[in-house]
Amino acid sequence: MSTTRFLTGITPSGTPHLGNYAGMMRPAIQASLSPGVENFYFLADYHALIKCQEPERVQRSTIEIAASWLAAGLDPEQVTFYRQSDIPEIPELTWFLTCVTGKGLLNRAHAYKASVDKNMAAGTDPDDGVTAGLFMYPVLMGADILAFNAHKVPVGRDQVQHIEMARDMASSFNHIYGGEFFTLPQAAVEDNVATLPGLDGRKMSKSYNNTIPLFAPREQLRKLINGIATDSRGPSEPKDTEGSALFQIYQAFASEAETAALRQAYADGIAWGDAKQVLFDRIDRELAPMRARYEHLTAHPAELEDILQAGAAKARRLTTPLLRTLRAAVGLRSLAQGVAPAKAAKAAKAAKAAKAALPSFKQYREADGQFYFKLVAADGRLLLQSTGFAAPKDAGQAIARLQQQGLAAVADQLAPVDGVAPHDVAAALQALADAAAAATAA
Ligand code: TRP
Repeated sequence: MSTTRFLTGITPSGTPHLGNYAGMMRPAIQASLSPGVENFYFLADYHALIKCQEPERVQRSTIEIAASWLAAGLDPEQVTFYRQSDIPEIPELTWFLTCVTGKGLLNRAHAYKASVDKNMAAGTDPDDGVTAGLFMYPVLMGADILAFNAHKVPVGRDQVQHIEMARDMASSFNHIYGGEFFTLPQAAVEDNVATLPGLDGRKMSKSYNNTIPLFAPREQLRKLINGIATDSRGPSEPKDTEGSALFQIYQAFASEAETAALRQAYADGIAWGDAKQVLFDRIDRELAPMRARYEHLTAHPAELEDILQAGAAKARRLTTPLLRTLRAAVGLRSLAQGVAPAKAAKAAKAAKAAKAALPSFKQYREADGQFYFKLVAADGRLLLQSTGFAAPKDAGQAIARLQQQGLAAVADQLAPVDGVAPHDVAAALQALADAAAAATAA
């Protein structure tokens, strides 16, 4: 299987804004169209409960975020788009991972530590106001990722530690239960994504209350754009593009030619009001068709529900069989089958033992500058010894000939070895050939 599996979670705890769109949604939707990738996008609503205990807000945000992604062009036929809480295997896996995760590992999570540090500084109890949900956040996130055996997880820098923890959980579980149950995921950090300034010129962010909602109604969008902070230069005075929030936002939407034209207009002293009109027109041109779809979907949440249910069914085609395997691996099994070691663990052990018991070819260079090979039995006994070759390639080719055509093909390149029965050599070569055939079949 050569496709790379990408997985991204979006926590529904707010309303998407232009910064989310330019910095994350637009590039992610673009990337979902590349060949050779499989994409999983989900609404991390269990995660939302950690920071938001207002049920209406969770629901509202779930609607807004689902509608935004679909309106912005995410194609649920092309990707797997679902809601975390529709996948019961995720909380089940969370528990399995909880039981193989050191508490000390979670103590070191940045988000938890930040809360503790804050309490310490304030002189209150270190865990004051910290829920077990916040503490367990990285395990739930690990389950999100490992339930789909994702290879790559596109995240911001602040989330990299969580991906590393997911790797730790995956390898602990694999190790304890003796199988390759989980792929070790990797963070994919995109460093040169656009970060947009907000209305006040600081980074556009919910926490600064300076955002422009992605699908604000047209007239509200106009109003908000008119409220972007500018300097006090009057009409016909040349303006600086450097440090101009208006210019930076424009740049995130415009082509190079359009950006160059606005740069020229700044130098020529375009009035701020006119520049705002240019920005509004450009953004509205991109968003208007999407906004229509957004408004339709938010007005018909039952359609969203159907799309998410279809996505959950698609997602569970992967998680249901995986959890069946995992339940058996940890010992949650039908009692009717009697007690037996997990198949996967048994197979892994057998494979390990077989590998350890195999003879092997070794290639090396001697002090005389020549290259040699030898065949060594699993117990270390020397079975075959070659004469010297001028180049390593020649030694390698002789091994290949030996394996394909038999001993006779390399008879004149072998040195005598004392005390080895010919049938030991034959058996060793046969064992290697069998192992190679088994590996190809697997
Ligand atoms: N923690 C992520 C965030 O706040 C959201 C998230 C939850 C996530 N589960 C995930 C991201 C799994 C990637 C993979 O942005």
